[in-house]
Amino acid sequence: MIQSAAARFKRKFAGYLNTHFFNRYDANESLENWFYHWLYFQNTGHAKDYGPKNCYYEFGTGWGGTLTSFLKASARFSKDYNFDIRNIKIVLFDSFEGLPEVKIAEDDHPAWGKGKFAHSKDYIADIIHRHKFPIEQVTFIEGFYENTLNDAALAGLLKCPPSIITVDVDYYSSTKLVMDFIRPILKSGTVFYFDDINSFFLHPEMGQIKAITEFNQDSGGSLNWLTNANFAGQCYIYTNRFWEYSSIK
Ligand SMILES: C[S@@+](CC[C@H](N)C(=O)[O-])C[C@H]1O[C@@H](n2cnc3c(N)ncnc32)[C@H](O)[C@@H]1O
Repeated sequence: MIQSAAARFKRKFAGYLNTHFFNRYDANESLENWFYHWLYFQNTGHAKDYGPKNCYYEFGTGWGGTLTSFLKASARFSKDYNFDIRNIKIVLFDSFEGLPEVKIAEDDHPAWGKGKFAHSKDYIADIIHRHKFPIEQVTFIEGFYENTLNDAALAGLLKCPPSIITVDVDYYSSTKLVMDFIRPILKSGTVFYFDDINSFFLHPEMGQIKAITEFNQDSGGSLNWLTNANFAGQCYIYTNRFWEYSSIK
């Protein structure tokens, strides 16, 4: 009885701290838990034998915030399920010089501009080391997408098609480059976290929303809305129009 009162108090106190001081959202809704859920589902759920798995792509590494959530989720998943973390690969795409110059209206936001959010590759590598993730499992694709997202880069990724993708690149133009690049290697069941969906107050012709709408209009598949995440971004799951796992030819 005493114990359960103490446990109830502890839970309530932790909830209070979480709500008022640490996060503005329930920890269960955190991005870390979202990543954890998909690592779990893709490795143990009903699609474990056919869907994509264990290749995390991040477009827009910035100061390593979303990456840290993924690294923590991976460490927790590997510990909870005795899963060898070396099965997980990470591919990181960034200029490591911050945002490019704003050239078109759809990218133009008061909080963004050339050089914003610049953090070096060494800064990100240090975060990876600190979380004890095996660095040899990480590929850095360094440079502005205009120069790096090309056929040669795609050929190098064929062995590791993405299973979980973060697109946190702010601009419409950068999101468009990312989606056009990645489209040929997408498999049904790949999940996306778009961090900047709400940046233009859901304006349909600005930012990431415009890029997603265009992707869904003219690709061989579609991004289908899944959930909101931590009050900022939104999550989608991709399916090819041609259902590649069908047994009927
Ligand atoms: C808001 S930051 C990402 C924040 C990061 N996800 C985090 O949580 O720390 C946006 C990132 O996108 C990158 N980026 C945007 N457009 C780019 C482009 N065209 N080429 C290369 N990097 C780009 C910037 O360099 C920047 O690091």
